[in-house]
Amino acid sequence: MTRKRVGVLISGRGSNLEALIEACKAPGYPAKIVLVVSNVPGAQGLARAEASGIPTLIINHKDFASREDFDAALDGALQGAQVELLCNAGFLRLHTEGFVRSWWNRHLNIHPSLLPAFKGLHTHARVLDEGVKISGCTVHFVRSEMDCGPIVAQAAVPVLVRDTPDSLAARVLEAEHRLYPHALRLVASGAVHVEGERVVGMTQIRDQPAIFSPPLDEGFD
Ligand code: GAR
Repeated sequence: MTRKRVGVLISGRGSNLEALIEACKAPGYPAKIVLVVSNVPGAQGLARAEASGIPTLIINHKDFASREDFDAALDGALQGAQVELLCNAGFLRLHTEGFVRSWWNRHLNIHPSLLPAFKGLHTHARVLDEGVKISGCTVHFVRSEMDCGPIVAQAAVPVLVRDTPDSLAARVLEAEHRLYPHALRLVASGAVHVEGERVVGMTQIRDQPAIFSPPLDEGFD
């Protein structure tokens, strides 16, 4: 089996990167991480990659006069490492149209909401403000608009009555750590692909019971 060469872009903590690193250790996993790039010097995720012997690079957006120049440097580094698939894992910069085009359908992002709801920042606080009862996370192919693009996979979690943005973030993050390796496996193995801006493929989506939040029996026992 040839493993797809994966590049990961980060800006911070790198817990999703860590989940991908762990997944890639499994025999038979169809991807391996060959480069981690951070736009933030000292990002915690860099140390996680180094601890696993994965090459890292800092490309600081502040060192570039324009978004185009920054993305060109990013693109050059990824091509240099012969990256075939790109994963944004907490990479908090918008890409230029040219960059998005050059990685079209080879570029994934994870976002901590059930897209297309709650794109952008401060997701969990906005979910709580709206009184939403089920939230979750999404892995999708990257398009030019923020947190947009064909959806590969989603996971749902309940929003609890006493949730704070932090407690909800922690519950969603746990799901993210399982979802991202799952989605990358689907894409890297060729099990799914994009057709007409939808992700389709060989995976069977099993019929499962609906998730109710609050549960149906709440308060009526
Ligand atoms: C994750 O929750 C990820 O979904 C989010 O940033 C966090 C990064 O955490 N990404 C976005 O909000 C993208 N719009 P991590 O650095 O520990 O993986």
